[in-house]
Amino acid sequence: MRWIHAAGRGLLVLLVILTGYAASGARADEGAGSGRGPLTLATAGDLTGYLGPLLEGWNRAHPDERVTLVELPDSADETRAQMATDLRDGGRHRFDVLNIDVNWTSEFAAADWIRPLPRDRFPLGSFLPPVVDTATYDGRLYAVPYVTNAGLLLYRKDVLAAEGVPPPRTWAELERYAETIAPKHGLDGYAGQFLPYEGLTVNAAESVYSAGGSILGDEGERVTVDSAAAREGIGFLARGVREGWIPKAALAYKEEESKQAFQNGRLLFLRNWPYAYVSASAPDSAVAGKVGAVPLPGPDGPGTSVLGGSNLAVGAHARHPDSAARLIAYLTGERVQRQVLTRGALPPVRADLYEDPALIEAFPYLPTLRESVLAAAPRPKSPRYDQVSLAVQAVVHDALTGRQTPEAAVRRLARELAAIS
Ligand code: GLC
Repeated sequence: MRWIHAAGRGLLVLLVILTGYAASGARADEGAGSGRGPLTLATAGDLTGYLGPLLEGWNRAHPDERVTLVELPDSADETRAQMATDLRDGGRHRFDVLNIDVNWTSEFAAADWIRPLPRDRFPLGSFLPPVVDTATYDGRLYAVPYVTNAGLLLYRKDVLAAEGVPPPRTWAELERYAETIAPKHGLDGYAGQFLPYEGLTVNAAESVYSAGGSILGDEGERVTVDSAAAREGIGFLARGVREGWIPKAALAYKEEESKQAFQNGRLLFLRNWPYAYVSASAPDSAVAGKVGAVPLPGPDGPGTSVLGGSNLAVGAHARHPDSAARLIAYLTGERVQRQVLTRGALPPVRADLYEDPALIEAFPYLPTLRESVLAAAPRPKSPRYDQVSLAVQAVVHDALTGRQTPEAAVRRLARELAAIS
């Protein structure tokens, strides 16, 4: 009878292989063990127009490892929430590769939602140095940098030239020009992203950092926000709204709305990511040819940008981890990185592209952007980053709408952050 058992076992093994094969769609020679097969790539839905054709290139060359793009909402917060729901225990684990915001790496890694990756499979040495740090947690690589970002100050070249002034380098200059020059030209003064969402956390952190302050210290373990610098930083934005050189409408702006205001010719100054420069300079923009970009100003000279961007991570339950790593290597390779810039208007993570003369000619802000990225400061690294950010957004928004003074807001934020960490 033993042969029947043996045959039964053989049948079982065959069945497992066959069902595994059918479920994954993998080729037999790449089946169980090699981790190859089709994938999904989940990403925030904004600025993804260029990705479809890029992934088509991959799909044509890798018919057995086809990737399906899953586009989530535009706003960083909503995308994070949908990813978290999918990745949690009891989630549906539909997402294999995830394009995660740089500041989610710690939270996703600490929760074991994404898996550590072998450093030697990716060209980490060719990336701009600060971006690699955003992909590590607890000394391990949990994602691969894909896009970087730094805030820039866009300004109306034509208007400042007519007034004979150079672009502002300090907050005092920015305030003065926003208050006096903008109205003369029928413009609002200054805007950033001031709706309560991740963008407001970014703008608030930039103001606080530029004034020399910080939010959390020691990898998120110490609350450092209760400082004169933080009061000055939040005070700068609150004063703008109170005095009217920041229009009230900006309290509801995310990236896109603020970009539209600038692009439709309604704003003198805009803090935004570099994609807004490309869009405002395009032929269909009302301000094409009239846009300049400089580093964000600070109290006494150039300020500090927050490091933005996104990293590619592999879900803990990814169906085909080997294919996931191969796709990530493709997306972070030289050719695709070039297209991330030329077709997506997003800042690549590969350092050499910032020194390419042809690219600098087409994207004149590249040298400024490189400097801004190299000098940019990360958002607080915390496994509870989502709660940290929610507290910053809520409190700073109250300061901007005048519901709380900057002093009271900073004290309250310190209390709320202490309760989280
Ligand atoms: C951009 C940045 C990202 C940031 C987000 C805020 O997408 O790249 O890091 O969190 O804007 O809205």
